[in-house]
Amino acid sequence: MWIFLWIGLVLGVYCVFHKIYVQRKRCTSTVTLHGKTAIVTGSNTGIGRATALALALRGATVILACRSKQRGEEAARIIRTESGNDKVVFMHLDLASLRSVRAFAETFLKTETRLDLLINNAGIAAPGHTEDGFGLVFGVNHIGPFLLTNLLLGRLKECAPSRVVNISSCGHDIGTIDFNCINTHKTLELGSTDMHIFRNYCHSKLCNVLFTHELTKRLRGTNVTCYSLHPGSVKTELGRNLNGWYMVVVKFIMQMLFQTDVISGSQTTLYCALQEGIEHLSGRYFSDCEVQDVKPEAKDNEIARKLWDISEKLCNLT
Ligand SMILES: NC(=O)c1ccc[n+]([C@@H]2O[C@H](COP(=O)([O-])OP(=O)(O)OC[C@H]3O[C@@H](n4cnc5c(N)ncnc54)[C@H](OP(=O)(O)O)[C@@H]3O)[C@@H](O)[C@H]2O)c1
Ligand SMILES: *[C@@H]1O[C@H](CO)[C@@H](O)[C@H](O)[C@H]1NC(C)=O
Ligand SMILES: *[C@@H]1O[C@H](CO)[C@@H](O)[C@H](O)[C@H]1NC(C)=O
Repeated sequence: MWIFLWIGLVLGVYCVFHKIYVQRKRCTSTVTLHGKTAIVTGSNTGIGRATALALALRGATVILACRSKQRGEEAARIIRTESGNDKVVFMHLDLASLRSVRAFAETFLKTETRLDLLINNAGIAAPGHTEDGFGLVFGVNHIGPFLLTNLLLGRLKECAPSRVVNISSCGHDIGTIDFNCINTHKTLELGSTDMHIFRNYCHSKLCNVLFTHELTKRLRGTNVTCYSLHPGSVKTELGRNLNGWYMVVVKFIMQMLFQTDVISGSQTTLYCALQEGIEHLSGRYFSDCEVQDVKPEAKDNEIARKLWDISEKLCNLT
């Protein structure tokens, strides 16, 4: 137990020093998005909202895919005002429900004609289970986006060149995949203390990196490219469900000293979504607007394929 705490702290400090003080790059692409359509999940707050605003400012039709109608509509209203772009709409999506993911995809495919950018931004670190009995972190951070991405792949292919961007985290570096646990308990690690949630979060972020790796292979020859990334350490609501004493301490130190604002936090997402000429880097992991190498387990063909297969089964995609 304590060992995990220390690993977490060491990782936190490592991330912070390594990334924050170097994480200063901006997405400088001047691409405009008139006539293009983007989906940003979890865009009522945090990094997602900053990303949605930036895309709206470039002229895109932006779908705010959020679980709360009230928070989603409020964010859409604010973004429309701030961007002067009235093609910003809320559509209901709860990633903790496969039924909701399917309903969202159906509505989206019926009401919109294009899809140029799918930004899997929503993420959570909290205890509990999804409607379908998955561990909440596994379900929301991995299984939901997995199904969503698959249901929208056809449209992405029709609109190629198009892109899928997955918001992972440097935390993936201490993540592991326990296929036994997935098979028996539909979660990545058992336990519901803050430390377990934090570790589940890291595992789920490793899933994101592995999926990007596998998806790229499946998309070869389609002109649909995909990227995963670490957004930096950003002041958001992400830690809202972790309240153990040490988390309070960690959060305080982060807030005071290291964290950056959501606009900076959205730069690597925007870079992966917009930068011209990075198509050959499809499947790779980015941090601070630059491609970065990942540990062997995060680009292992065998693990990536196995995770893909098991995920397909878990959401009845086959
Ligand atoms: N902040 C950081 O330092 C940091 C570092 C590394 C990676 N990240 C990643 O960056 C991404 C954005 O996080 P953030 O920091 O901006 O966090 P945030 O402020 O907590 O925003 C997360 C968003 O995800 C949404 N969400 C949660 N559960 C959902 C569900 N079941 N269905 C649909 N949407 C759901 C939230 O909606 P509600 O408002 O309704 O809860 C919210 O809009 C996440 O993937 C996170 O893992 C963040
Ligand atoms: C993003 O992650 C989800 C869940 O891990 C996965 O289903 C999807 O294929 C990934 N997409 C990309 C482009 O990595
Ligand atoms: C992919 O893009 C290239 C260059 O624009 C184009 O020549 C090719 O036909 C496209 N392939 C598909 C499958 O759309």
